Amino acid sequence: MSKITEVNKEPPLEHLAIIMDGNGRWAKQRALPRIAGHKRGVETVTKIVDECVRHGIRFLSLFAFSSENWGRPRPEIDALMGLLLQFLASQRKKMLREGVRLQVIGDSSRLSQSIQEALADAEKETAAGETLTLVLALSYGGRDEIMRAAKQIAREALAGSLDIDQLDNRSFSRFLDTGDIPEPDLLIRTSGEIRISNFLLWQTAYSELYFTDVLWPDFDAEELQKALDAYLCRKRRFGLVDV
Ligand code: FPP
Repeated sequence: MSKITEVNKEPPLEHLAIIMDGNGRWAKQRALPRIAGHKRGVETVTKIVDECVRHGIRFLSLFAFSSENWGRPRPEIDALMGLLLQFLASQRKKMLREGVRLQVIGDSSRLSQSIQEALADAEKETAAGETLTLVLALSYGGRDEIMRAAKQIAREALAGSLDIDQLDNRSFSRFLDTGDIPEPDLLIRTSGEIRISNFLLWQTAYSELYFTDVLWPDFDAEELQKALDAYLCRKRRFGLVDV
């Protein structure tokens, strides 16, 4: 039976964010090249998207390529970009059929022209999808995103089109790449690392955090269910007190 009703009980889970970590270690454990881990990682992505649809989760944000990942060896970067293109091509029909909308966050100006075009096409084509919004963080860093937002705010203030005194948390967040996307309810990180690593810094202020030792290529429906079960046991207070 689908756990959709359970997930939608209190506390509701509308937005799940995931730091997909451990592809390299998964490959190393098997004496395989790192890219083999990334390939398995993409297979996990498709399975977890399916699971989120099944659970009725409305937003899934995945940290697919950080601003720091540009420092990786060029062949690994190229392989990751190749996998991204393959993912977009292979999932296109399914996304349209199932109402999965793609939304990209991050500094896309650093991505190659062909990647930018493929992403823009996929975003446009899937824009009407209402089942799940798949937010791919690419060339993304939380500090970079906040900095770009601050610069845009300064530009608008200098131009006289924005009154700084009217700015509050809500209006500031609209300048972020995530715009009107609700803040993540739950952030999962795989592979045993216990840190946020510059992912959705502003948006995860009150997110519940879940860390698992499971490496991303091994993360599956059962592991997701464990995270959702743990989330259901959390008491969210948002800085307030219990009533
Ligand atoms: C972390 O593993 C993973 C990444 C840096 C990239 C994640 C990318 C994918 C799963 C594939 C591309 C995604 C899509 C949506 C097509 P790591 O390499 O840091 O692993 P390690 O810490 O074990 O070395």
